[in-house]
Amino acid sequence: MRKYTDRELKEFGLAPDRIPKHIAIVMDGNGRWATGRGLPRAAGHRAGVNALRDIIRFTSDIGVESLTIYAFSTENRKRPKDEIGILCGLLIEYFNREIDELHQNGVRIKSIGDLSWFPTAVQETVRAAERKTADNPGLKLNIALNYGGRAELVRAMRLALSETDEPDEAAISRNLYTADSGDVDLLIRTGGEERVSNFLLWQIAYAELYFTDVKWPDFTRDELIKALKDFAGRERRFGGLK
Ligand code: FPP
Repeated sequence: MRKYTDRELKEFGLAPDRIPKHIAIVMDGNGRWATGRGLPRAAGHRAGVNALRDIIRFTSDIGVESLTIYAFSTENRKRPKDEIGILCGLLIEYFNREIDELHQNGVRIKSIGDLSWFPTAVQETVRAAERKTADNPGLKLNIALNYGGRAELVRAMRLALSETDEPDEAAISRNLYTADSGDVDLLIRTGGEERVSNFLLWQIAYAELYFTDVKWPDFTRDELIKALKDFAGRERRFGGLK
């Protein structure tokens, strides 16, 4: 489903055999982006959704297989009701506006986390997007909504125990929300903090970590290309020797 040829990828400075299969992103810094401009935090989230649009399109076009984005953590439930309401509104707006184009581009949408906590309208919108795109062959877009890595692991372990008395690593892996996306190759966090924040704890065991001060609304495809070039230059040994 890749749109670009090897030659075009090289024009971006990207090595075709060094594109990560699975990228995960902590999209941090929306609030500070807005307040730094004297705008309400909601403006930052709105700008964040625009940034996301382009990043999804580009990752899909360069042939990344899976993109997992942290849209709402279990800890985000502690935010003021108003801000949660705004994020829910943006989510619905985003799906309504983007779903047709995502579908045409073969993107398969899946939410990860406990969706049942959200208002019915959010649940219905997300489920409809999942159903519509379920059989698509392109980018697997996992959207973490009310997601926590430890909660995912507890869930996976319980499910694995219902299959077998002595679950092994494979049994845990296949019961994760992201089972069909596999391990994360590259974890990106924008916004200047260098933390994992309970995101994909199992899946990032051997991920390369990339932190940038750039706030999420300013994370353009050029910034992603920087991260991808950095990734391409890393030597991945997975605990072995070269
Ligand atoms: C972190 O910025 C960002 C979030 C908590 C939400 C991310 C959500 C979006 C980009 C939009 C909604 C998602 C979709 C899929 C439509 P922050 O508020 O923590 O920023 P700060 O650290 O500067 O306060």
